[in-house]
Amino acid sequence: MSEPQQGNYDIVILGGGSGGYACALRAAELGMNVALIERDKLGGTCLHKGCIPTKALLHSAEVADSTRESASFGIEATLSGIDMNGVNSYKDSVVARLYKGLTGLVNGRGITYVEGTGTLTAPNTVTVGNEAYVGRAIVLGTGSYPKSLPGLEIGGRIMTSDQALELDWIPNSVIVLGGGVIGVEFASVWRSFGSEVTIIEALPRLVPAEDPASSKALERAFRKRKIKSVTGARLSGAVADENSVTATLEDGTSHTADVMLVAVGRGPSTSGMGFAEQGVTMDRGWVMTDDHLQTSIPGVYAVGDIVPGLQLAHRGFAQGIFVAEHLAGLNPNPIDEAGIPRVTYCEPEVASVGLNQDVAEEKYGKDAIKTYEYNLGGNGKSQILSTTGFIKLVSLVDGPVVGLHMVGSRMGEQIGEAELIYNWEALPEDVASLLHAHPTQNEALGEAHLALAGKPLHAHG
Ligand code: NAI
Repeated sequence: MSEPQQGNYDIVILGGGSGGYACALRAAELGMNVALIERDKLGGTCLHKGCIPTKALLHSAEVADSTRESASFGIEATLSGIDMNGVNSYKDSVVARLYKGLTGLVNGRGITYVEGTGTLTAPNTVTVGNEAYVGRAIVLGTGSYPKSLPGLEIGGRIMTSDQALELDWIPNSVIVLGGGVIGVEFASVWRSFGSEVTIIEALPRLVPAEDPASSKALERAFRKRKIKSVTGARLSGAVADENSVTATLEDGTSHTADVMLVAVGRGPSTSGMGFAEQGVTMDRGWVMTDDHLQTSIPGVYAVGDIVPGLQLAHRGFAQGIFVAEHLAGLNPNPIDEAGIPRVTYCEPEVASVGLNQDVAEEKYGKDAIKTYEYNLGGNGKSQILSTTGFIKLVSLVDGPVVGLHMVGSRMGEQIGEAELIYNWEALPEDVASLLHAHPTQNEALGEAHLALAGKPLHAHG
């Protein structure tokens, strides 16, 4: 018996997260007939379990810090407590508003939205229940899940970001396993809420994917905030009982806390969905693609966290849009991974785009690179905000800026200009000749380029 066919679509998209829905919206805009299949909630990890709810928590954390530190700005206020139910309902209301908006967008563009679990049953077909959706092209965008370590079972006091986001109480003490992006963001939130926080990171520094100068600045700022970091430390095991969790490290030391957050990376959600069975080339669960995001099967594309590389919502958006435009014959430029802006929203924020110094030196040769670090001590607005930090530029000696690295409160907001500088291959002189409004933190970017162009203004040395 053959399955009923749900019409023929230009694109059938499996997964309604950042990559999948962006592809659907752009394809529909280009006049294509689109089916979008999602088993959980439209919006995916970013909207429901990632970017949006965590940044809402970080904003509550900032309000707590501002209240606690109000006296230093001459304001009399006391932080009398943190109501986690209130924090969660604020966070949930932000998610709900955005979810409603996104649902409206998808409905409004004539996209066929299918609720259910889809499986790739042929190179041009995704089946949901006993209905087959056939497309000229298929786009896989099934996202990622929080990983754990072998032998480390998630449950109770040992949790991933999924459970940590739902916590309705504030632990007195927390162990954060993994000093990457999720680890430092949650460490920051909990510290602002009053918890004692210890981060355990296997590599020698926090946020190890960032330039070492950014790691150093963040570690210094976290030390000042009394967030403990144990780096170069590997976990040998963890046990939890009714009252606490104890993590033992390979060097024999141990740490006990109320809860432990496991933030050791996210893995691709691809098993049991028919990808490998249909012949899609995979590597340890990741879907391999060419630079046009096409998998080993012609007509089958992949976007978002299942494609090896940065697991960022805006990369997913860009990839989704790319595939839609490529299929429409618009010939879009392949995405340069290094040009994707990266922001970690802990306090202080860490932001970067382009190459780390060591990567640039390896690519172009040590003598071909120059760097400059601008200290936010010279930036008026940063002083007003009472933040410390820096902007580090990595540039070719006689060429464009190839890496920008920033640490400081709110510095994530500067990534827009930084991204244009990198992606438009600006020379330090190009940026130096443009004005930056005074007094803004944005001015620090201008100052750093003035210095690199040989005409420093508010900078020493
Ligand atoms: P991650 O890869 O950023 O960090 C995981 C960290 O855990 C690494 O530093 C790694 O060295 C460490 N680690 C691994 N095994 C360990 C062990 N046995 N003991 C101690 N440390 C260990 O992954 P994370 O933080 O889980 O985030 C997952 C993804 O989500 C990332 O790709 C990230 O980019 C994305 N994300 C992005 C955000 C943003 O853009 N602001 C926010 C949150 C997540």
